[in-house]
Amino acid sequence: MSSTADAVPLVRLTGISKHFGEGQTRVDALRDVSIEVYPREVVALLGPSGSGKTTLLNVIGCILDPSAGAMELDSEQVLENGHWLRSNLRQLRLDKIGFIFQSHNLIPFLDATDNVALVLQLAGKDAGTARNRAVELLDYLEVGNRKGSMPAKLSGGEAQRVAIARALANNPRIILADEPTAALDSRRAGIVMDLLRKLAVEQDAAIIAVTHDEKIFDRFDRIYHLRDGRLDSETKNSKAA
Ligand SMILES: Nc1ncnc2c1ncn2[C@@H]1O[C@H](COP(=O)(O)OP(=O)(O)OP(=O)(O)O)[C@@H](O)[C@H]1O
Ligand SMILES: [Mg+2]
Repeated sequence: MSSTADAVPLVRLTGISKHFGEGQTRVDALRDVSIEVYPREVVALLGPSGSGKTTLLNVIGCILDPSAGAMELDSEQVLENGHWLRSNLRQLRLDKIGFIFQSHNLIPFLDATDNVALVLQLAGKDAGTARNRAVELLDYLEVGNRKGSMPAKLSGGEAQRVAIARALANNPRIILADEPTAALDSRRAGIVMDLLRKLAVEQDAAIIAVTHDEKIFDRFDRIYHLRDGRLDSETKNSKAA
């Protein structure tokens, strides 16, 4: 568990709201959500289907425009009164954020190494440097032995670890995951959660994961409960590793 007394939050959301559509078709997906997540914390977003979990993750990941609120990422004010303060959100994402999706979303015609290296090349690394760093990351995630494999040849757990390597490629300090263990058995889910915690500690990062997965609840420091777009409650977990 992190010490939050003197640390600055990596993610600070204040009064975030998001609605889709207007009038009769309006859906209030997030209502006045405020959260703070600190370095080295592993935090879960939990709630029924449609409660706003993915919407919240996408707002934090700067891939969805909120309707109102303010947001600070890694000590930088990025959103104020529902307006982005940066014009280049793609660069902001590349600099600060790693995304892990439920299904691994690997590019099917690139091998494991190139799936990871691609992100590095997008960030401006040359091909050789990108591939070297990709192999290093795959080794770190203990899938180095599969570095030349195409995604279709990887097991679910291996593919998810390659996807995690990709999310980490640019050393983001904010890692967002939408149901990262949903497709895995409990042993593999445990391995992925151990890895995420190791990352949080070793890279001084914050991990925010949406989950329905009861077998991993005890792996989180805190759980935010969402209901109808509102933060319902917060559970602290004294047992988390
Ligand atoms: N692009 C969109 N356009 C319109 N409504 C949307 C859009 N995206 C989400 N919504 C609505 O916003 C609400 C929150 O959706 P969200 O995907 O965040 O839920 P969730 O908690 O992730 O659900 P699940 O557990 O099923 O993944 C839902 O009512 C959904 O229908
Ligand atoms: Mg969702």
